[in-house]
Amino acid sequence: MQNRRSFLATIGTIAAGAVVSNPLKAAVLAQGKLKMVLVGTGIRGNSFWGKRLVDEYGDILEFVALVDSNPGRVKYAAEYIGVGEKCKTYTNFDDMISEQTPDLIMVTTPDATHHQYIVKSLENGVDVLTEKPLTTDEDKCQQILDAERKYKRKVIVGFNYRWSPYNTKIKELLMEGAIGKLVSVDFTWMLNTSHGASYFRRWHGQREWSGTLLIHKSTHHFDLLNWWIDSDPDEVYATGDLEFYGNRPEKSGVNCRNCDEKGTCPFFYDITKSRTEYNLYVKHEQHDGYIRDSCLFRHEINIYDKMNVNVKYANNVHLNYMLTTYSPWEGWRVAFNGTEGRIEAFLDVPYLEQVHVSQEDMHKAEMDQRGNQQLQQKPIILHKLWGEQEIINVGYSRGGHGGGDKRLHDHLFRTPNAEDEYQHLAGTRDGAMSILVGTAARKSIEAGQPIKVGTLTTLIPRAKRLV
Ligand SMILES: NC(=O)c1ccc[n+]([C@@H]2O[C@H](COP(=O)([O-])OP(=O)(O)OC[C@H]3O[C@@H](n4cnc5c(N)ncnc54)[C@H](O)[C@@H]3O)[C@@H](O)[C@H]2O)c1
Repeated sequence: MQNRRSFLATIGTIAAGAVVSNPLKAAVLAQGKLKMVLVGTGIRGNSFWGKRLVDEYGDILEFVALVDSNPGRVKYAAEYIGVGEKCKTYTNFDDMISEQTPDLIMVTTPDATHHQYIVKSLENGVDVLTEKPLTTDEDKCQQILDAERKYKRKVIVGFNYRWSPYNTKIKELLMEGAIGKLVSVDFTWMLNTSHGASYFRRWHGQREWSGTLLIHKSTHHFDLLNWWIDSDPDEVYATGDLEFYGNRPEKSGVNCRNCDEKGTCPFFYDITKSRTEYNLYVKHEQHDGYIRDSCLFRHEINIYDKMNVNVKYANNVHLNYMLTTYSPWEGWRVAFNGTEGRIEAFLDVPYLEQVHVSQEDMHKAEMDQRGNQQLQQKPIILHKLWGEQEIINVGYSRGGHGGGDKRLHDHLFRTPNAEDEYQHLAGTRDGAMSILVGTAARKSIEAGQPIKVGTLTTLIPRAKRLV
């Protein structure tokens, strides 16, 4: 009979295509609940991987420990998530792992610290679920790949965007050859002056923490693209710059709350008005100086705010990618050219569809996990060469990242033996390939020349993605 410890290992084999029985169900019946530890009790850890798991899957899993370097925030998290009295809180991972024997460790700390906790968990024989990005550079990536191989445990990367029905429909059309052989892709993602700006208010604005948005944000996009294109990135050429946010000494205050320009700055953000953010961040600032409403124009910002990336895939598909961070509206569009036609898909483009939510509230609505969102139909355009265009409507609700969040959780915890016909589940190879595009792009911007992905780690790009 399976034990709980084999849960993630078995999920790893699902990722590799094997058909297995439901390990979690057997484990729960045999030995009680899956014992989980959450490392990083910020907004993502507390809400999506904390409270949502307790509320929705409390019958099959329990948190035995929470870890965060901020002593105030980790205590607050225990209360907010509702973990129960038996769950211990720690400010040091090593103390936790010397006392606890979890089945699964969930990593939701800032991006540049993921590798430390992933590697330590694997060393201690524990499987890992990590938030995206897998990590922020090629050396840390190699450490993770080596540790997974050496300690024979598994890492799953929580790429939630793959799981939305809209993105899945695109995958299905490409898999069934709806436009023949894929030859090129054009992908543009617009972040607005609310959500886009928010990345520059905190640690994401410093490359030593986030690896730049080419890693922190684009890891989602490069993962979708690698998965849709079904090949590995081979060569990357990129340009990028910081022009809009960042070093403007004449504008820069310490943070919004204390700024002389709060009456006139169009970016003024009053963190004291958000109960969640006030309780989670402001109340615990004294422990570590983590300021959530830092000035968007402070000189520490050293990431790009405009980015263009060209990727040649190992199957010779050519990609054109652009990320902008101060658009008047937030949304995206993608176009796939094939030998037999073209697919166009887009979300939240205001002049193409009715967008019923304000630009300020858009991101909050996307993060909303309550699942009581209005279901809409969103079109994908399939246009065959010499044929009529076909509009394929896909059911869409904004909450939980277009329905991706719930589907990812359900597959991981409720139905791990369900067939994964669209290869949604992602392991270290997929996690690595997505951050290696961003890493190569960063290097290309610095060097002014194309970078070969195969020179960055021991992973060799393949024409057909390994699943
Ligand atoms: N998949 C998604 O859609 C999605 C959405 C949001 C965030 N994320 C990811 O989730 C992770 C957390 O993001 P967030 O927005 O919750 O950030 P956050 O700043 O709100 O939380 C990070 C937490 O980590 C703690 N921390 C900092 N350094 C630490 C260290 N060295 N050791 C232990 N704890 C440490 C902080 O005190 C804080 O509580 C990031 O990797 C981010 O990329 C993913």
